[in-house]
Amino acid sequence: MIDHIEFLRYFGYKLLTMYKFLLGLHSGIRYIVIILFSLALIMALIGLFGRKSSNEFHRKINLYSLISAHVQLLTGLILYFYSPNVMFSNMGAAMKDPIIRYWTVEHSAMMIFAVILITVGHSRSKKAIDSVNKHRAIALYYGLALLVILLAIYQSGRPIFGSSM
Ligand code: HEM
Repeated sequence: MIDHIEFLRYFGYKLLTMYKFLLGLHSGIRYIVIILFSLALIMALIGLFGRKSSNEFHRKINLYSLISAHVQLLTGLILYFYSPNVMFSNMGAAMKDPIIRYWTVEHSAMMIFAVILITVGHSRSKKAIDSVNKHRAIALYYGLALLVILLAIYQSGRPIFGSSM
């Protein structure tokens, strides 16, 4: 029969392994997100100012960016329940610690806001009839979302490119 200490050690090890895996995944997907959104934004700006028509490449890059952001949202939501830097059992104490407050409230709120901007921007671009309005919706909404994402990562003190692990 395994005793309680043995069980807690095993359970703790499993939680830590899962946390490390999710953090590595979430951390890695941010490269895909940042690269895809930068590309989508550059393409939209070139299209807008160069009066170029919106083509299949624009449609695909905008869609893949949207998917990458939604996948990142999902991994973030799961990671939220494994992270030792997130605490919602005692919100009063969490708010007093800048690191715990950042990961419990600020990071998720800013990133969810960015994903809302991305979803609205993609839908507006899809619904727009002419190319100028398609490019404008992406340039505006994706551009703002990228800014929010970069500011949120910068605020965390973790590297924009690089690993904290
Ligand atoms: C576009 C969306 C997002 C991006 C680009 C993003 C980016 C990042 C980055 C760069 C890190 C640091 C990784 C490292 O230290 O190596 C991180 C950590 C984390 N993110 Fe996100 N994130 C996003 C959305 C979310 C959402 C929506 C949530 C929660 C609802 C979330 C929860 C977390 C948590 C809990 C951590 C780990 C904190 C820790 O234990 O150190 N993320 N995220």
